[in-house]
Amino acid sequence: MITRVALAAVLALSALMATARAEPAPPLYLDPAQPVEARVDDLLGRMTLEEKISLVHGDSKFTTAAIPRLGIPRFWMSDGPHGVRQEMNANDWGAAGHTDDYSTWLPNLLGLAATFDTDLANSYGQTIGAEARARGKQMMLGPAINIQRTPLGGRNFEYLGEDPFLTSRMAVNYIEGEQSQGIASCVKHYACNNQETERNSVDVELDERTLREIYLPGFKAAVKEAHVLGVMAAYNKVRGQYCAQNAYLLKTILKDEWGFKGLVVSDWGAVHDTIQTAENGLDLEMGTGQKLYENYYLANPLLHAIQSGQVPVSALDEMVRRNLRVRFLIHVFDAPTTGPAGSINTKEHHLIARRVADEAMVLLKNDGATLPLDPDKISSIAVIGENASSHFALRGGSAQIKALYEVPPLEGILRRVGAAVNVSYSIGYMQPDRDTDPLPGLIDRAVEAAKQAQVVVIVAGLNHGDNYDEEGSDREDLRLPPGQDELIERVVAANPRTIVVLMSGGAIEMPWLDHVPAVIQAWYPGMEGGNALAGILFGDVNPSGKLSCTFPKKLADSPAHALDAFPGEDGVEHYAEGLLVGYRWFDTKNVEPLFPFGYGLSYTKFDYADLKLTAASGDADATSPVVTVQCQVTNSGARQGAEVVQVYVHADKPALPRPDQELKGFARVDPKAGETRTVSIPLGRGAFSYYDPAKHEWVAEQGTYTIRVGGSSRDIRLQSPFTLATTTVDPE
Ligand code: GLC
Repeated sequence: MITRVALAAVLALSALMATARAEPAPPLYLDPAQPVEARVDDLLGRMTLEEKISLVHGDSKFTTAAIPRLGIPRFWMSDGPHGVRQEMNANDWGAAGHTDDYSTWLPNLLGLAATFDTDLANSYGQTIGAEARARGKQMMLGPAINIQRTPLGGRNFEYLGEDPFLTSRMAVNYIEGEQSQGIASCVKHYACNNQETERNSVDVELDERTLREIYLPGFKAAVKEAHVLGVMAAYNKVRGQYCAQNAYLLKTILKDEWGFKGLVVSDWGAVHDTIQTAENGLDLEMGTGQKLYENYYLANPLLHAIQSGQVPVSALDEMVRRNLRVRFLIHVFDAPTTGPAGSINTKEHHLIARRVADEAMVLLKNDGATLPLDPDKISSIAVIGENASSHFALRGGSAQIKALYEVPPLEGILRRVGAAVNVSYSIGYMQPDRDTDPLPGLIDRAVEAAKQAQVVVIVAGLNHGDNYDEEGSDREDLRLPPGQDELIERVVAANPRTIVVLMSGGAIEMPWLDHVPAVIQAWYPGMEGGNALAGILFGDVNPSGKLSCTFPKKLADSPAHALDAFPGEDGVEHYAEGLLVGYRWFDTKNVEPLFPFGYGLSYTKFDYADLKLTAASGDADATSPVVTVQCQVTNSGARQGAEVVQVYVHADKPALPRPDQELKGFARVDPKAGETRTVSIPLGRGAFSYYDPAKHEWVAEQGTYTIRVGGSSRDIRLQSPFTLATTTVDPE
């Protein structure tokens, strides 16, 4: 009989042998059960100096190197804000010519902002995040959120408009949506990249309140609310220092004050110095103009700077730590099944593109209920304009998308009514970039077509190219390209029942406006744009977009131009208008815009009533509401529609100069005909605060304010006084 002792010995021996044969335990950094910081420390501790260096600069246009010894895969980045860009060549700006890199092309961000629909912004981000996962990307280079300072801005189409509050709300929801798909967003371009003119070198000079109250809130919200994992340092300088080596922006504000834990990547070619970049807060260099990646500032030059003691290895470790942290947070090292699987070009994604286009388009004018058109009562429509049949997806610069398909306006109209209505097409004009001179008689032929039709739809606008809404250049004026104003004037004279549709990334001057009964701002409406436009023209969809930027009557009315503060001189750009950007200028200086910020018509009408302010009881902290704004909105028209209720705050007697009013709350509501909805919008004390540069804090000063509620910045329907009983201060 085996004694108990012998049995125990046999069992212990077999366990020992089994252990001796088993695989060594995986390193801590590969154990997903371990805390992220412990995994970062463990992996960092295993890396050689050369391996660390390899992680802080690119090894192709959109990647950083793999480290096979440690199981670190290549890190893939991709543009951009409106969808996942096509595959590019490894070492130049050419398209790689793949056939499996078509994506969903969503409407431009200025249009997304015009929806004022934060839930939709989240779906927008989810769509791109899912497609990035499917395309094997770890970081998406978007959203782009620079504030629109001048209506000439070449990338205004790509940004979320002129208001910091609207920009913040849309950016937070976009990023939360995109990062929920298991990839990193990279909010850009930090900071003050508000023009394309001399973008690689212009030095932006601005006061601290303007920086904090206008140009930083979107980035701050992205970091502190959405926990964005990437921030892209802009090309320009701020107060004399390039953004990619600007210690005040990158270390003092972004990392120290806001507690940003992700990685700061340079814009492509925005790095200009090894030591300053390494010491002032950049974590990843991309796109430098060097043929060999080893010659990047943060490659061999940084290695030598460390070996010679000019840069402490601790600075490199901090950069590597941030690059590793982002990888762990998006589970790069964990099983591929970790996190969402990703999907691309699904019906759901294309439906999101359609919904954004539906809600983004802004009905600017609709005299005599010209719109919606009733296809049962129309026998012929003349569609006019090159933009009606153009494709825009692959234009605009780095935000370009190789869309799986794109429905231009003409095709959308034909699909919607072509079977029952005689639709003619006349090009009417040719965009300036065409490589042929405009054929004589284009306008004559368009006028003839207009005379033959019951209704005319002119699709005018910019070509999303050089000097007309493209990265790398600003617009030269707000006019339509040559020939279009004359075309519109002559066509509407021939047929008064003419609708003008504008495809542009921003404001357009409209000398013909008094003669045209209906105008729609369509932006660059994405792959479903033509279907969305047809839906609005024929009343399937009730337009609900609200302008995310002011449309001035003339360029000189805009602040940066009224003050001759654009594009700057001798390489320096003084933001002389300070806080008074966009409607803040028009409202404070009492300048009448062509169409104001927040404006947009509907096929129905909304009445506002019963404004009630309910002050919070007790001491509210920095995030809880101090007052809830409530009112009743009634749809007094004959069909359902969505209204964006906007709340603006006016300080009656501010201690420091402040804009006449500032958007501090909004809500979309979509009552049926005859229905009344109660709208409640909470305001935290941030809604009353200004930034005090002397104290480096936000002050919500005791005093009286006027809370204004309406359907645009110039359509205030209700207002009420509100008193802050005490002054409160909050740190940045
Ligand atoms: C561009 C843009 C930036 C883009 C990057 C990569 O110059 O400024 O928005 O993400 O380079 O294409």
